[in-house]
Amino acid sequence: MDNFLDAAIEIAREAGQLLLAHRGVSFELKGDYDLVTAADRASEQLIVKRLKQRFPHHGIVAEEGGRSEMQSELRWYVDPLDGTTNFAHGFPMWNVTLALARNEEVIAGVVYDPLNHELFAAERGSGARLNGAPMRVSKAAVLNDSLVATGFPSRKRHQNVNIHFYYQLAMVTHGVRRGGSAALDLAYTACGRLEAFWEFGLNPWDMAAGTLLVEEAGGRVSGMKGEPLDLHGNYVLADNGSIHAETLALFAEIFQGQYQHEMPGLPAHELEMRRG
Ligand code: IPD
Ligand code: CA
Ligand code: CA
Repeated sequence: MDNFLDAAIEIAREAGQLLLAHRGVSFELKGDYDLVTAADRASEQLIVKRLKQRFPHHGIVAEEGGRSEMQSELRWYVDPLDGTTNFAHGFPMWNVTLALARNEEVIAGVVYDPLNHELFAAERGSGARLNGAPMRVSKAAVLNDSLVATGFPSRKRHQNVNIHFYYQLAMVTHGVRRGGSAALDLAYTACGRLEAFWEFGLNPWDMAAGTLLVEEAGGRVSGMKGEPLDLHGNYVLADNGSIHAETLALFAEIFQGQYQHEMPGLPAHELEMRRG
């Protein structure tokens, strides 16, 4: 495939080194709660420059505004630093991720975590790899045996309905992780550390590479109602495949407001009831 994946890997590694060198920079607010740092911008500038050098006719859509609208069926989605809030606080879960889509179908993708020296990569039809070794999703067969993850986008965290999904899933799994990096949540699902990941309100650059990793590692990806994934849609569910139907069935109940586990009341009221 014209060395698209090799190029993406090389560029992600270079951007990863740049991010390491930028640790400790101060942050600004983009909107009311969304952090951005000089590292996000420098990483994006580097990636966009490299992509333009190598693929001058491809389109590019990058999170911090880097764009190149070409009349091409090929378009790169770039998140120069996924997990900015973690990065800004020194919480060690962040990465650089980029993916190439042909007519909005992702055909190559990379998630690179320089702190852990982990590079996740996939090409459509050729499997998924972690540091060069083939990776597969986990074999867990039911939610009861699963560790799952989700996220809450900073700019849309008010009134986020995901808290209902978080609670119900927490009741029927080994736990719900909220690590703060959607691309790594997806990469961890692909390599079997997690059984599933879902989130509302992601952007294409957050999930393009990671969803391909999951599919190529033998998992399933869809919308949260089971429809085909829309990179520009409202939500995503990615899992090991074995728990896909069970998770969708549980999601369907939650969408309808039918809860297996009643949500707790307000703390003061609940504590009073328990004392009485
Ligand atoms: C965010 C992270 C986070 C997810 C948010 C994303 P950013 O990306 O992936 O885990 O919950 O939805 O926006 O802003 O750090 O690139
Ligand atoms: Ca992101
Ligand atoms: Ca980002």
